[in-house]
Amino acid sequence: ALPAPRRIGGHTALAGVIGWPVAHSRSPLMHNFWLAQYGIDGAYVPLPVRPGAFDVAVRGLQAAGFRGSNVTIPHKEAAFRIVDRLDRSARRSGSVNTLVFAPDGTIEGFSTDGDGFVANVEAHGVKVKGGRALLLGAGGAARAIAASLLDRGVAVGIANRTAQRAHELADAMRADADAGTMVDVVPWDGLAAVLPGCDMLVNTTSLGMHGGPAGELPVDLALAPSTLVVCDIVYVPRQTALLRDAAARGLRCVDGLGMLIHQARLGFRKWFGTDPVIGPEVEALLDADLRG
Ligand code: ATR
Repeated sequence: ALPAPRRIGGHTALAGVIGWPVAHSRSPLMHNFWLAQYGIDGAYVPLPVRPGAFDVAVRGLQAAGFRGSNVTIPHKEAAFRIVDRLDRSARRSGSVNTLVFAPDGTIEGFSTDGDGFVANVEAHGVKVKGGRALLLGAGGAARAIAASLLDRGVAVGIANRTAQRAHELADAMRADADAGTMVDVVPWDGLAAVLPGCDMLVNTTSLGMHGGPAGELPVDLALAPSTLVVCDIVYVPRQTALLRDAAARGLRCVDGLGMLIHQARLGFRKWFGTDPVIGPEVEALLDADLRG
């Protein structure tokens, strides 16, 4: 018998991920898994959009009835500019990775990385409330994570190879009244002095990533308290050198794959109307896919 075609019709809810390149994105796999799991009439597609073509692509998707999209490199700044309303998460993190097209023709922008990071840590059984975190890196991911940690009363130290970017990030965080004096800059070569007083260590740099820069993080985990939770947002490979070292020392580890899954949740709920329960199946699916 011939295979039954997948039914995509006039009522099918559409969303996707805008990026360049975008072929490597795991978001379609994840969203289409949830769509199938919940029996939702929807589809989620990769949307390769060249630099410079973002605005026309978004207007086209809106005109074509899409519910919204995720946005990834190199379009996150353009996404920040195009929206009519910034959710607090987007304002605080200075970036937008999720667009929701409202029926009235307006666009709302969200940043789900920071809350996705925290939700993933909590899914590992670690309550994120108070205490002190040391963040390595000062890029877009660091800012989103710093904002979400500060929201939960976690004091944040920021260390970055390029000190100026760490200071800029700290200043941007301090500009928000809620954050108060909870953020400071730690010298890249001075981690040893603060690590013993930390509850959480988070790598947001590309060091350790497959195909990323060569080199090692200037972290000596021999100085870590036994209660330290070590997190890496890199998920290719899942087990980075930092996490391997941490695991060998018996420290609690949180890898980056769960953040990828948890950050996707809000968009799915907004576009498709169902809050996906994040279970081991979707993690296993992505893990198998990443292993090739
Ligand atoms: P993202 O928005 O994904 O966080 P990014 O803005 O490119 O990405 O930031 C990458 C981070 O990795 C930065 O903190 C960067 O440090 P610099 O600000 O000093 O560039 C860090 N990074 C990249 N390569 C590095 C290396 N070889 N050693 C140390 N840090 C590195």
